[in-house]
Amino acid sequence: MSKIDTRLNVSPVPPDEIFALNGAYAVDPHPQKVSLGVGVYRTDDGKPWPLPVVQKAEKELVVDDDLFRHEYTAIEGDVPFLGIARDLMFGFEGKQGEEEAKARIGSVQTVAGTGANHLGALFLAHHMKPPTVWLSNPSWANHQTIWELAGVPRKTYPYYHAATRSFDFEGMMSSLESEAQEGDVVLLHACAHNPTGLDPNKEQWVAIADLCERKKLFPFFDSAYQGFASGSVEEDAWAVRYFFNNKPDMEMCVAQSFSKNFGLYGQRVGAFHYCTNRASTTLRDVVVNNLCHLIRGEFSMGPRVGCSIVKKVLTSEELTADWHQDLQVMSSRIKTMRKALYNELVRLQTPGTWEHIIQQNGMFSYTGLSPKQVYALKDKYHIYLLKSGRASISGLSQKNVAYVAQAIDDVIRNEN
Ligand code: LMR
Repeated sequence: MSKIDTRLNVSPVPPDEIFALNGAYAVDPHPQKVSLGVGVYRTDDGKPWPLPVVQKAEKELVVDDDLFRHEYTAIEGDVPFLGIARDLMFGFEGKQGEEEAKARIGSVQTVAGTGANHLGALFLAHHMKPPTVWLSNPSWANHQTIWELAGVPRKTYPYYHAATRSFDFEGMMSSLESEAQEGDVVLLHACAHNPTGLDPNKEQWVAIADLCERKKLFPFFDSAYQGFASGSVEEDAWAVRYFFNNKPDMEMCVAQSFSKNFGLYGQRVGAFHYCTNRASTTLRDVVVNNLCHLIRGEFSMGPRVGCSIVKKVLTSEELTADWHQDLQVMSSRIKTMRKALYNELVRLQTPGTWEHIIQQNGMFSYTGLSPKQVYALKDKYHIYLLKSGRASISGLSQKNVAYVAQAIDDVIRNEN
């Protein structure tokens, strides 16, 4: 028999840690298993939480019986949705005088936050050819994959100071100051840094913006948690708005996700916004035109259902108020669970310091647990978190927090 051969040259790539862990958790029959892996919101019963406002909007959309609701949209996406997404991100309120600022922003619909990051990376790789993209160390692991696939060389800037479990502002600034070159992209997390939960304060953001401007670096914001982190959409957009409003000579972009703040994880709702500088007023349309070229060749247009829900909510005053309440519910439950875990660890006198758990922000805590301790938590207690020690706080509940704290205490004390 002749040998059956392949023309492919493939070797295995490591599985995605976040989704592999999610799969392992799903099939684990242990009754006390706890999922602190993937960043999804869960109720105190450990259940998914379709936002009440989303359920209301869905009902209204079905009742509306819109004949066009499953039709194609334009290649750039649903245009009214894009205006709404842009206004939410940049804080436009329909006031006079905003037109000039809006004219600087070209927006397209994407396949959620990953898609927005990917499209932006691809667009810059084609049309700006940055020598390097600078990612925080650590960052969301998918940032590495996205920029690798876009073919842009990657470097990291220090972000996390392990000894003090704090944001390494000096390290970040001095590394970018001495090593970044004109035209490099700097990837910044707009709020609720994933995985550390540590964000620059406002003064630090101002200094980062100054540095980007002075060194002619290109800020690329990833905004995945607007409103989810602090409960306030204004507060969580502060950095993006500061850069945009105060550095109008600088170009920048934003990858915007609606997965977490609307609980629309599987619907893949997102947008990519490219901000031209104030001098390049005619550039926006050609940017959008080129983004559409990439979109058409990849997926033709973003999906429709999720963005119709977001549009429905954000065009109704009443539903927007409901959404703000839902954001409060999610962000405050996460804060409560941070405190509960911290209190338990202090009560148990678990070796180490634990203030960082309550000081960090957003979906995750960078616990400081070692890969070995993380492994022991999974092996012995069926508690799943990333090997970096990142824990999705939302997986904690009043029912399991004592169990989790006790398990952490045990793996730390009994490490040999
Ligand atoms: C996470 O970091 O767990 C989430 O953002 C889900 C994802 O896509 O990785």
